[in-house]
Parts: sequence; C-alpha cells; structure tokens
Amino acid sequence: MGTDTSSQHLLDSLRPSAARLPESGIVRVFNHGRTKPGLIPLWAGEGDLPTPPFIAEAASAALLGGETFYTYQRGLPPLREALAAYHTRHYHRPFAPETFFVTGGGMQAIQLAFQMTVGTGDEVIVPSPAWPNFRGAVETTGATIKPVTMSLGPTGWRLDLDRLFSAVTPRTRVLVINSPANPSGWVASQSDLAAILQFARTHGLWILADEIYGRFHYQGGMAPSFQHLITPDDRVLFAQTFSKNWAMTGWRIGWLQAPPALGQVIENLVQYNTSGVASFMQRGAIAALNEGDAFVEQMVARARDGLAIVSAALQPLNTVRYVAPAGAFYAFFAIEGIGDTLQAALRIVDEANVGLAPGTAFGDGGEGTFRVCFLRAPGQMEEAMHRLSTWIAAQT
Ligand SMILES: Cc1ncc(COP(=O)(O)O)c(C=O)c1O
Repeated sequence: MGTDTSSQHLLDSLRPSAARLPESGIVRVFNHGRTKPGLIPLWAGEGDLPTPPFIAEAASAALLGGETFYTYQRGLPPLREALAAYHTRHYHRPFAPETFFVTGGGMQAIQLAFQMTVGTGDEVIVPSPAWPNFRGAVETTGATIKPVTMSLGPTGWRLDLDRLFSAVTPRTRVLVINSPANPSGWVASQSDLAAILQFARTHGLWILADEIYGRFHYQGGMAPSFQHLITPDDRVLFAQTFSKNWAMTGWRIGWLQAPPALGQVIENLVQYNTSGVASFMQRGAIAALNEGDAFVEQMVARARDGLAIVSAALQPLNTVRYVAPAGAFYAFFAIEGIGDTLQAALRIVDEANVGLAPGTAFGDGGEGTFRVCFLRAPGQMEEAMHRLSTWIAAQT
C-alpha cells in the first residue's frame, strides 16, 4: 500500500523487520477483480462451500449456552482428546492429547513454531515455490528464509534432497516441509520424509511439518506423513488446521502438534500472543473431528472432480506447461510466452472474468506460473476453465 510522505516518519520508526514485510502477492489481483460481476474467483486457498451445519450448530449452541469466558491456553480438554482420537483413527498409531495445542488457525501454529525456534541471525529453509506466509512468519521473528528451488519435470514438481541438505549452514535451525504442497501440489514420498527426518536428527534441526493438505491426496489414501516416522524425542512440529478439511477458513482455528515437553512454553506463547481460541469455536471444532469424516470425504471428492476438469482443460493446450498435482487443491502451471504473470492475471480478470493467483506470489521458482484453486462446484469449474482455455488459446 502507498504511504503519504508526511507519515513516512511513522513507518521509519517501526522495527525494520515488521515494516519491511511484503504485501501478499495475490492481493493486487484480488483488489482488481473483487467487485467484478460474474467473476469466478480461483485465487484463494479455499473452496466455495460454507461450514456444514452440524459444526456451526455446535458452536452456536455453545455460544448461546454462555461459553463466553476465558479459556484453556492449550485448548479445551475434550478438543485435545478429540484431536488425539482423530489422529489415532487416521494415522493408525496412538496419539496422546498432551501433544495437541489449539491455535488461531494453521497460521498461528506456524507463527508459534517459529517463535519457539528462531530469532535474529537464524535461517529457515523452505522448498520453493512456497506459500508466502512461511516467509512472512519467519521474518517477523527477525530470522531469514533460505529458499531451495524445486523444479518442474515431466512428472511434476520435484525437490532435490541433496540440494535441500546442502543449503543447511551452521545458522540453519528449521526445515519447513509442506507436503502436499501449496502451490505446487508436490507430495513427498515416505522415503523422502524418512531421509529428511534422519538428516534433521543428525544435524539437530527442527522440522516444521505442514501437512494441512494431507487428506487431499490423489494417489489414494492419505499422503505420506512424518506421523508414521516420529518418536517422542524428535524435533518435529506439525502445523494443522480446521480450515480446509471442514470448510472453516473464516473461523481461524487450527492446532500445533508438538512434543509434550514443550507444553508450558507453548502455553506461555499462546497466553502472550492471543490468550487462546474462543471456547465456543472449539466446540464446533470438536463436532468437526468427531462427526466430520464423511464431510471431509465429500470435500476430497469435490477436489478430485475439480482436478479432472482442470486437467481436461489444460492438458490439450500445447502452450501450457502443466502436470496434474499429486496433492493439495491447486493447479500450478505456466503459459508459454507469458513471463509477467501478475500483469497477465490482471488481464485475465478483465478479459476472461476469472481470478487466478500469479506465481510470483510464491517466491523463487514461481516466476512465469499461475495458481488455480479447484475446490469448487463442478459447474463453476467447467465454466472457469472454459473461459480460461479460450483466453489462453487466443494468446498465440
Ligand atoms: C500450506 C499452508 N499452510 C497453512 C495454511 C494456513 O491455513 P489457516 O491459517 O487458514 O489455518 C495454509 C492456508 O492457505 C496453507 O496453504
């Protein structure tokens, strides 16, 4: 956002690492198109369904029933129990409630993870292109991000593990592994995860495992996970969220999974950051975990349908470089001859009435690409992809 020069001194007197934070790269396109009639928005990381009634009703009942007081910093005990049961059910190994900490969305879980592990002078390694909030969250602590660029090959995006490991320096404290990944749809294999964990153990590094898209895996079953590999002593933190699986992006509720030894530290950080998540919202989250498996399956089926529509539209276009993602719910592709994807995304809003995220928003490796979120009703996805492929075909 532009600043009036007369108030520049106010910005100049802020902490530089806060003042320097970049504006989200998607916002420019969003602001350009948000009020356009008939625009189909595929720029954000969310679907078109509202939260299902059984979750909203559980939260409303708690709110109306007077659950409006200060609450547990680590999360309501029944929610932590429901989290343990959910993980035990889906990862087929036992989990204890003491390892789960309720947060203000996956975003706050990430923020707490970095607040605990890094500060000025430290480095965090992130495979890139990456969801930009990793960088933002790291830089608010004064630490720096070191991107390791992935490559788009004939079978999809690839992370070269030797490249990842050789990026580590004595200042490195954390490896961020987001699998399935936003925006690339890359999914680490179980053997990649084992090699990364072994490397982190040897070098005393933390891993921030962002597996929030773990249910959205198109090769069947859940995506490979660090959950199958960790022991209680491992330095692995999981950022998780209710946002995507249960259509709760606007609620701002998620969880951090960490070794129980960190419990008091996490409790203190929650206390001094937000003082906890509203207890009535936590009641909704309990309903999501205990009664929401079928809804998640519907969401995954919707994403699968959206993916098929996107692939059918993009694969025949010989000016498009696209490989169907293995996970998450984004198509991340390039159009031959288009380098400035921010300008192109603005034109696509004006000329095709579809909202895309420009790849530049996702940092190194994102140049020349676009991201489309396909978690929408099939009719809308068909229409959006018809408009987009017509626009692409007209560019040659
Ligand atoms: C990779 C990744 N991690 C975490 C999040 C956080 O989600 P939320 O803060 O809505 O829980 C997102 C949201 O888009 C994401 O893409």
